[in-house]
Amino acid sequence: MGVGPREHEEMIAYIEDIARHEGQTVTLRGWLHNRRSSGKIHFLTVRDGSGFIQCVMSKKAAGDDTFTRADHLAQESSVIVHGTVRADSRAPGGYELDVTGFDVVSPATDYPITPKEHGVDYLMDRRHLWIRAPRQQAILRIRHEVIDAVRDFFNSRGFVLADTPIFTPSACEGTTTLFPVQYFEQETAYLTQSGQLYNEANAMALGRVYCFGPTFRAEKSKTRRHLTEFWMVEPEVAYATLDDVMALAEGLVVSVVQRVLERRAAELKVLERDTSRLERVQAPFPRISYDEAAEIIRRKGLPFEWGGDFGAPDETAVSEEFDRPVCVHRYPAAVKAFYMKPDPERPEVALGVDVLAPEGYGEIIGGGERVDDYDLLLARIKEHNLPQAAFEWYLDLRRFGSVPHGGFGMGIERVVSWICGLDHLREAIPYPRMLYRIYP
Ligand code: 4AD
Ligand code: MG
Repeated sequence: MGVGPREHEEMIAYIEDIARHEGQTVTLRGWLHNRRSSGKIHFLTVRDGSGFIQCVMSKKAAGDDTFTRADHLAQESSVIVHGTVRADSRAPGGYELDVTGFDVVSPATDYPITPKEHGVDYLMDRRHLWIRAPRQQAILRIRHEVIDAVRDFFNSRGFVLADTPIFTPSACEGTTTLFPVQYFEQETAYLTQSGQLYNEANAMALGRVYCFGPTFRAEKSKTRRHLTEFWMVEPEVAYATLDDVMALAEGLVVSVVQRVLERRAAELKVLERDTSRLERVQAPFPRISYDEAAEIIRRKGLPFEWGGDFGAPDETAVSEEFDRPVCVHRYPAAVKAFYMKPDPERPEVALGVDVLAPEGYGEIIGGGERVDDYDLLLARIKEHNLPQAAFEWYLDLRRFGSVPHGGFGMGIERVVSWICGLDHLREAIPYPRMLYRIYP
């Protein structure tokens, strides 16, 4: 004996799937985003996390009581709306809902973020609410897509996800940006700056690996490109050369940008992103040496001396030359991390690469080949005044079957910020952590 659908059974729907329900009566569960009224009709913009839709409530169809309940309802009150889905070419999502029933779950009063302009500090103090805004939702969905694309990229290419620790005994990216943590009675541990060193051990075990997690830098700088907590994906490959690393970085960036263009067109539109700039992100990316980059910087009249690292204006000057990301390789070894392998043909430069995004977004990827020789690595650890004992396990990788290898780290927020066209990294993560911000 079959049980047929009951006549009054609710059909709960999400706004993002609304096209599938044309002509049907559905139930939406969400929040009131906006409301305007004209006499006997309320126009209610409802959001449910998956999208926004205009719900049209006429006094006649909804009844006096329901109509009155919606009269003075404030922004962000939670609501359940029943109604019939109607196609409307003028509606932003292509559909509207003709309301037949309406319940208030919990009224909101004086929601602090109104459609008027607010200052950034005001919004950052209310970040937990600000993320409900259409623009912020679009950014967070694109962030999700970027992360999903990154995982798919590596998973479909034989890489094994191997996680690396967050509590670490030592520095990876220089000792000036370490966050110390009291680790029980005796020891000071540090929040990881990068999973790379453990990734190298994992690559010696599993060949092609990646780690993906939060990383920490006690950056005292107040720039729009720095967070103190950010997410980084880091692949590491046994037997990889610098050229392999650049090809992998290029493939990843192309794949991520394409994926967002394909699947998040609506969100890019909310952000008013010029997608023609993103469509140009195709292989091959130009590959230039540090020397050539320095030449560009000098030609553009910026003061620059060989040997220094690039500042933000320098990176912008270089990336402006190209319509797609550019790989800058062979930086002076002295400005790079202790683990960078020197170029055998020119030891004063390292076999490292930074990928600079176009449109002035600067470095999104840093990586290269690692020192694989035991004696050289030990010398580097000493030169950098790093505690040898904490690196014994890392030296083991050069004692037992050392091979050339390399990889890179890509900062998720830098990529999201560039793809979304943001002017600060703080909007590229739900709860940014910065020099002067740890709330909410
Ligand atoms: O260039 P970085 O410091 O390289 C490393 O950490 C290597 N150990 C990675 C590796 O080879 N496995 O950082 C890599 C990337 C940068 O290109 C940038 O995208 C991002 O991480 N990044 C930051 N993002 C936000 N805020 C910060 N303070 C960042 N520092 C680095
Ligand atoms: Mg770097």
